[in-house]
Amino acid sequence: MTMQISPSILSADFARLADEAAAVADVADWLHIDVMDGHFVPNLTIGLPVVSSLLKHTALPLDCHLMIADPDRWAPDYAAAGARNVTIHAEAAEAPVRTLRMIRSAGARAGLAINPGTPVEPYADLLPEIDMLLVMTVEPGFGGQPFLDLVLPKVSRARELVSRHSAEVWLQVDGGVSEETIERCAEAGADVFVAGTAVFGTQDPAAAIECLRSAAAQAARRRGTGPGPG
Ligand code: DX5
Ligand code: ZN
Repeated sequence: MTMQISPSILSADFARLADEAAAVADVADWLHIDVMDGHFVPNLTIGLPVVSSLLKHTALPLDCHLMIADPDRWAPDYAAAGARNVTIHAEAAEAPVRTLRMIRSAGARAGLAINPGTPVEPYADLLPEIDMLLVMTVEPGFGGQPFLDLVLPKVSRARELVSRHSAEVWLQVDGGVSEETIERCAEAGADVFVAGTAVFGTQDPAAAIECLRSAAAQAARRRGTGPGPG
């Protein structure tokens, strides 16, 4: 299982997004974009125009996490604009199957996110429709919140469901992921890690990503799913 790091620009300097993306371009697997509308979550960030501009300034694939009230209306547009992954929230989507299919047919990977209080089991039947399941490890809306350990049993259950279904579906965690918490996430079975504060809140974002990646890989090896030596 490959461990992937998706640094979140929510903790970057919004006035220098292209530079911040460049700082992690050689080491990150993705660039995580938190789209918030002030309705589904209380915070308001950026939308499609900024994503379209950013696409012209970075070669990193964009991992768009839509924390918006009407993902059915907007998600396909992010895929059409060139985002490589578009994740919608199960709590917000009115027609998740249709929307996930539209994301895929626009050429992007389709992600489904669940909040800390949302059980994963009801979404097992949707696994054929998704390329990534995002289990939130904080309540969505803000960077810099403490990691919620109470979500870890659900990450393990999500791993079981996903592995039983197909190795092609990635399991992402987002919120409070740091050098201190990433090992627990990897041990529980996550393989894609979003980190905002732990990357862009440091002096050297690229070095922070390398530390996160090696901690995750070590933990995955302990779990028996990591890449073998060499
Ligand atoms: C929170 C966002 C996260 C956020 C994570 O709602 O979805 O992507 O950027 O920030 P940290 O890593 O600081 O918890
Ligand atoms: Zn996010």
